[in-house]
Amino acid sequence: MPTAGDYAIKDISLAAYGRRELDIAETEMPGLMALREEYGESKPLKGARIAGSLHMTIQTACLIETLVALGADVRWASCNIFSTQDHAAAVIAEGGTPVFAIKGESLVDYWDYCDRIFQFEDGANLILDDGGDATMYILVGARVENGEDELIAAPTSEEEEALFAQIKKRMAESPGWFTKQRDKLYGVSEETTTGVHRLYQLMEQGQLPFPAINVNDSVTKSKFDNKYGCKESLVDGIRRATDTMMAGKVAVVCGYGDVGKGSAASLAGAGARVKVTEVDPICALQAAMDGFEVVTLEEVIDQADIFITTTGNKDVIRIEHMREMKDMAIVGNIGHFDNEIQVANLKNHKWTNIKDQVDMIEMPSGNRIILLSEGRLLNLGNATGHPSFVMSASFTNQTLAQIELWTKGDQYENKVYVLPKHLDEKVARLHLGRIGVKLTELRKDQADYIGVTAEGPFKPEHYRY
Ligand code: NAI
Repeated sequence: MPTAGDYAIKDISLAAYGRRELDIAETEMPGLMALREEYGESKPLKGARIAGSLHMTIQTACLIETLVALGADVRWASCNIFSTQDHAAAVIAEGGTPVFAIKGESLVDYWDYCDRIFQFEDGANLILDDGGDATMYILVGARVENGEDELIAAPTSEEEEALFAQIKKRMAESPGWFTKQRDKLYGVSEETTTGVHRLYQLMEQGQLPFPAINVNDSVTKSKFDNKYGCKESLVDGIRRATDTMMAGKVAVVCGYGDVGKGSAASLAGAGARVKVTEVDPICALQAAMDGFEVVTLEEVIDQADIFITTTGNKDVIRIEHMREMKDMAIVGNIGHFDNEIQVANLKNHKWTNIKDQVDMIEMPSGNRIILLSEGRLLNLGNATGHPSFVMSASFTNQTLAQIELWTKGDQYENKVYVLPKHLDEKVARLHLGRIGVKLTELRKDQADYIGVTAEGPFKPEHYRY
């Protein structure tokens, strides 16, 4: 693999292709382009050194170029071994931003690349994270340096083995590095439900050493990217992987949160007969009233053709489930981590690789299952993730969060925050023109009557959308 200068990518000659796709993406990412317009001259991120860990796609390339246009120094890695678009990484490397991301990289390389995003001359002072791996790397490393050796004593998975080895390597090469790096950080902005969950746990345990902005729970993120994004990209991933006919098939979606809602809509839109599993009575009732049969996995396990996990939870599809599935059932996950499906328990079965990120696995009964992206998020592993337009909303929130942490970080406590509602509304507003949406303006007397101002915010904090 060519590694030249301060980057590790597949092939720098893909940069021209990356640029052509980036040119198209820019026309679909009005929020990011508006921020370049608004802040390009004042450069509010001047002095910021951002360690970014987020799927290295064309959309992310547009985010990176926006952060750089606003004055930041940036180093980047992908937050999943399968999610990089190599031409996107190439265009970023060619532009001079250090990037470490190769589609299909090993777990050892993954954690090495995670380390390399912090290797600014004076260390990073901000993290932009997706799923929390970059944040965890620094915080676990610092705790080990400060005596909690047991944290990396006994790996329970291949992932942990690679992570712990990387932490030990860095500690041996640069004693005290993690603690010094941690103490330079102004904060982190976190992209996804799973990473946010980790941050709230850290806060509750008194282990969050800097402020964090929960980008996921901006309305213009989770109610758009998680939902409408998956609505487009789930079926895209299944089709590119299998070319299966979806109409008429029985598909089971595990979880009916934001990602589950988008995923069920995606499959239903393709003509599949969709069933949902849930643990939460509110989400189960929503699924039923959206017209989906709500079942337990056990009762449909030998009937369905496609199984998709969307829960952010672990061990949702277990080995005993996979043993009961029909011949050639398709199994995939769109949640952040691969532990939703017990893939490790399939290792001693017969695997036939069909193509990159598509495997056929033979079960003891002789039935075969088709496993997508080894259980890692399939919309990014088997396809190219969400379309640019919806990612523009997410990444506009990310950019605003980075500006907030860099320019006003000292006004925040070491807690997890969401961006204020006026910024959420601003993000939405920036995306209206591109799709020809015309807003009705509130008259003053109407605004007074419902207790808001004509300029917004239009809803109280407790409103749920
Ligand atoms: P959410 O919390 O809104 O939804 C998860 C749902 O799963 C909840 O309703 C919960 O009750 C349900 N659930 C939990 N355990 C379950 C079980 N054992 N069986 C059935 N249902 C169960 O979370 P959200 O925002 O939908 O995110 C889900 C996952 O997807 C997270 O890991 C998140 O980080 C990830 N994500 C992935 C994206 C992608 O492009 N692949 C985009 C956005 C989020």
